[in-house]
Amino acid sequence: MKNLEVTYLGLTLNNPIIVSSSPFTSNIESLLRCEEAGAGAVVLKSIFEEQVIGETEFMSRYEDYPEAGDYLKHHLSDSYLNNHLNLISEAKKRLSIPVIASINCSTDKEWISYAKSNEEAGADALELNIVIMPTSTETKASDIEQQYLNIVSQITSQVNIPISVKLICKFTNILNIVNELQKRNAKGVVMFNKIIESDIDINKRELVATPSMSSSSELCNSLRTVSLCSAEVDNIDIAVSTGVHTGEDAIKALLAGAKCVQVCSTISANGFEAINNIKEFISDWMVDNTHTSIDQFCGTLSCKGAENNEIIQRVQYIKNFQQ
Ligand SMILES: Cc1cc2nc3c(=O)[nH]c(=O)nc-3n(C[C@H](O)[C@H](O)[C@H](O)COP(=O)(O)O)c2cc1C
Repeated sequence: MKNLEVTYLGLTLNNPIIVSSSPFTSNIESLLRCEEAGAGAVVLKSIFEEQVIGETEFMSRYEDYPEAGDYLKHHLSDSYLNNHLNLISEAKKRLSIPVIASINCSTDKEWISYAKSNEEAGADALELNIVIMPTSTETKASDIEQQYLNIVSQITSQVNIPISVKLICKFTNILNIVNELQKRNAKGVVMFNKIIESDIDINKRELVATPSMSSSSELCNSLRTVSLCSAEVDNIDIAVSTGVHTGEDAIKALLAGAKCVQVCSTISANGFEAINNIKEFISDWMVDNTHTSIDQFCGTLSCKGAENNEIIQRVQYIKNFQQ
């Protein structure tokens, strides 16, 4: 196989396929399978502050036995946190590929304390899984954007491991956000998190969640942004997540300027061997195209070239429907 080495967040990965934060990275057995199947790195399943709060609230129902409730409250939230931190330590001991931890918090205080504890447990880098969903007419877009930036500033000023931010695609000007994140010392962004969308069941007349697994067609949602962002914002690495199912998908992401890709749904559909299949496809494609390293073609379709701009900037159908 060709040399597939890349650097991401300052870490050396022996290939650009990362298993994204998911059930496949939630326990040591799966993590070992990711490594055996040839992953270049893993992002551990996120720890969710919401879940700690949820368990704590559940325990507050022990109104008749307040001491028991308090005891269980601490015990459960501590054990959820400790399990997560133990997984980081164990993964660092047993895997030789980089281990990236992931956190999702809802309060400023916990963003900092979780970030610090994940660093202390030995994570090589930290992915911030930030999703702030607008639900009020009073909240301005700039207020939400500032929240993202504040979280990142606070964390990068207090931890030393590289920080990446897993973004959702719903920003008015994502290029500005990525540039501002870079100024606050974020080393990478993940484009994009797949949030669970809502659908409507017209018979039951209720909102229902859409399937959580992606398809390859969802990749196009990020290629334009990756292409623009990799040309416009220096000193920040891009990982593509959502819709990378095949070697061809991975090559598209790399050509657009991503340093690496993250995969989850393809493992669910095709098993852990999907990782090696993607690697082999990239390697064969490099041979066919006489590339000896990923650097030789990574970003060659970023939006710097004038010939790419016309396609990138064409977002409407005017020409297609002219008679
Ligand atoms: C069951 C499931 C659990 C997930 N859990 C997390 C999580 O804890 N943290 C996170 O950042 N992303 C999580 N994700 C999102 C994935 O990391 C990934 O971004 C998403 O599935 C899109 O990538 P894909 O097209 O390769 O599936 C989860 C996805 C699935 C399907």
